[in-house]
Amino acid sequence: MAFVAHQLFSGFSSSAARNVVIKSVTIIGGGQMGAGIAQVAASTGHSVTLVDTSDDILKKSIETIEGSLRRVVKKKFADKPEAGEEFIRNVMQKVLTSADAASAVRGSDLVVEAIAENLKVKQDLFRRLDKLAPPHTIFASNTSSLSISDIASSTNRPDKFGGLHFFNPVAMMKLVEVIGTPATSQETSESLMNFSKVLGKTPVSSKDTSGFIVNRLLVPCIVEAIRMYERGDASKEDIDIAMKLGAGHPMGPIELADYIGLDTVKSIMEGEAKDPDNPLFASSDLLNKLVAEGKVGRKTAEGFYKYK
Ligand SMILES: NC(=O)c1ccc[n+]([C@@H]2O[C@H](COP(=O)([O-])OP(=O)(O)OC[C@H]3O[C@@H](n4cnc5c(N)ncnc54)[C@H](O)[C@@H]3O)[C@@H](O)[C@H]2O)c1
Ligand SMILES: *[C@@H]1O[C@H](CO)[C@@H](O)[C@H](O)[C@H]1NC(C)=O
Ligand SMILES: *[C@@H]1O[C@H](CO)[C@@H](O)[C@H](O)[C@H]1NC(C)=O
Repeated sequence: MAFVAHQLFSGFSSSAARNVVIKSVTIIGGGQMGAGIAQVAASTGHSVTLVDTSDDILKKSIETIEGSLRRVVKKKFADKPEAGEEFIRNVMQKVLTSADAASAVRGSDLVVEAIAENLKVKQDLFRRLDKLAPPHTIFASNTSSLSISDIASSTNRPDKFGGLHFFNPVAMMKLVEVIGTPATSQETSESLMNFSKVLGKTPVSSKDTSGFIVNRLLVPCIVEAIRMYERGDASKEDIDIAMKLGAGHPMGPIELADYIGLDTVKSIMEGEAKDPDNPLFASSDLLNKLVAEGKVGRKTAEGFYKYK
């Protein structure tokens, strides 16, 4: 009964011009990114439901969130370990998990999708959720290389659809790119900007163009550094030192590639390469070879550099 009344109420009030303050968030995809967003949203008082395809994956996501919270708490509550434990308990209480996206989205103000980078899979998911989520619910994709307009076209709510592009690791990185398509309403963009600020992030707005802001500028720099090394113009160590000391970057482009993961760099490049006339994103044989050998950077202990 209470549930029905709530549904009627939200349906009724959404016809009036009202601003939806995002309180309840569903995150689809409990991988690296999804877990990070869940952690930050729960830490800032949102009710979070994290959805993935199996309970085993979700168990790992919860362990990831708890591990990451422990690192935060170690710094923030260094002299008050008990307050730290209580903070962790409170945050973890705000994170529910579900293997059923359909039931999770019914009470959500915002759905953030962070699943595999595949247009058809994302469209199928949103087409299904569009029929189940309340009318006021905003949909956002965390895609880094697909067009938000293309994903939104599978729904009947293109005005309530945008991009919310976080950076890894989500708990550390302050930036969120908020992406608006020509169909995204002003109110939706504002809600997404406001939500990002409540998370403690700094949002920037970008149109739905390939790479948005950061990847559009960063990936060509990384790939040109790799090509420079491949051509023998300079050593990888010197390229990294040069960009740190000569351009003020905290990490050199080749170290950064290892940190991001060479597989991720390759797939972002291939996403950008949709524009065949753009030589900035032409592939690198050396990068392809390292990825084929499974040497993708820090996470496999070897990429351009070796890690212990
Ligand atoms: N890794 C990055 O640096 C980064 C940065 C910005 C955006 N992104 C985007 O975020 C998304 C996810 O990246 P990630 O690194 O977290 O990937 P990941 O592979 O770690 O996680 C994806 C998760 O989604 C789950 N999943 C797949 N299909 C599903 C479905 N239909 N329903 C529910 N769950 C499903 C998978 O089981 C997996 O746990 C991608 O679209 C990626 O482009 C990644
Ligand atoms: C969003 O994308 C970023 C980078 O493309 C990724 O690191 C992060 O895990 C993603 N977050 C979600 C919730 O998908
Ligand atoms: C965004 O936040 C501002 C400032 O708090 C508020 O005035 C505005 O109504 C909010 N917009 C939406 C769409 O939530």
